[in-house]
Amino acid sequence: MSPGGEQVMKCVVTGAAGFIGSTLTERLLADGHTVIGIDCFTDYYDIEVKRGNIAEASKNSDYTFIEGSLLELDLSSLLSGAHWVFHQAAQAGVRASWGEYFQTYTDNNILATQRLLEASRAHDSIEKIVYASSSSVYGNAETRPTREDLVPQPVSPYGVTKLAAEHLMSLYASEFQVPTSSLRYFTVFGPRQRPDMAFHRFIRAALSGDEITLYGDGEQSRDFTYVDDIVQANILAAERGPAGSVYNVGGGSIVTVNEVLSFLQNEIGELNIKRYDRQAGDARHTSACTDRARDEIGYCPQVSIYDGIRREIAWLRTRLEK
Ligand SMILES: NC(=O)c1ccc[n+]([C@@H]2O[C@H](COP(=O)([O-])OP(=O)(O)OC[C@H]3O[C@@H](n4cnc5c(N)ncnc54)[C@H](O)[C@@H]3O)[C@@H](O)[C@H]2O)c1
Repeated sequence: MSPGGEQVMKCVVTGAAGFIGSTLTERLLADGHTVIGIDCFTDYYDIEVKRGNIAEASKNSDYTFIEGSLLELDLSSLLSGAHWVFHQAAQAGVRASWGEYFQTYTDNNILATQRLLEASRAHDSIEKIVYASSSSVYGNAETRPTREDLVPQPVSPYGVTKLAAEHLMSLYASEFQVPTSSLRYFTVFGPRQRPDMAFHRFIRAALSGDEITLYGDGEQSRDFTYVDDIVQANILAAERGPAGSVYNVGGGSIVTVNEVLSFLQNEIGELNIKRYDRQAGDARHTSACTDRARDEIGYCPQVSIYDGIRREIAWLRTRLEK
């Protein structure tokens, strides 16, 4: 039994050294579960940052870290006896998904997912595979707040690969009874956020007095979701999500990039903003209807946008002081 009296689950987290995977891992360990974390430390951003992300968890005797790629590892042996699998590994990032890097996206997002699903078929112990899908599957959604039954129309190659992997999840659930649940995350932020993401870039630049790079007119809006709410949604989906289910996971705070910049100006001081053209693949607005996640798995976001940004500022301040 875990400290809370729940059954101890044997968990596998892919992408365990990343922003979300490492935060999820720490929560699972705190809840008393055992975790096997898998990550191959892709060089999309500084590998030392990823090593730092797993440092705390690695001290825990309930944690085993496997350095390797889902494209090469013997996944069947790693899944042996697993109850919950949280598939967070991917090549993230919309803008880099055009052009010559596309194969990195098809390999790490589609092929890696297919290998994980094939390996899962042999393991009856698995109660749930939770997949980190993305709001990018919707592209420029015609209706907002966007419901899960809207036909997805990605506007980036990244979104296409995330959608393909999500379809694989649903397909293995219907054809082979693999118990999958897909969560469409809407822009995630908070401590450990990836350095290529807007809030991280903005806050870092603001704290260092550097120029802030802004793509587009700043009137694009996002449904921002605090990382702890994403973690909670993963656990709820693992506990309660029916096989083949798909849920939006948004934070309920929809703000424009200009509003975020004004907030940062108030919190940190004068900003030096340099504006550039909108980048190909960026959706104009995103907004999640989370009724299905609330009704079926009890998801309810807890951290508001500005509380969450303050926590991310505090985290980056500490990191920059080191
Ligand atoms: N951050 C967001 O706002 C957001 C939004 C929607 C969806 N997502 C999804 O959430 C997941 C986690 O995103 P993140 O922001 O934490 O990204 P991240 O880049 O910080 O973490 C992903 C991790 O996966 C690892 N990885 C990639 N390919 C791998 C492979 N073949 N084998 C083993 N490890 C591999 C990387 O090394 C990295 O550490 C991704 O699937 C991403 O598509 C994120």
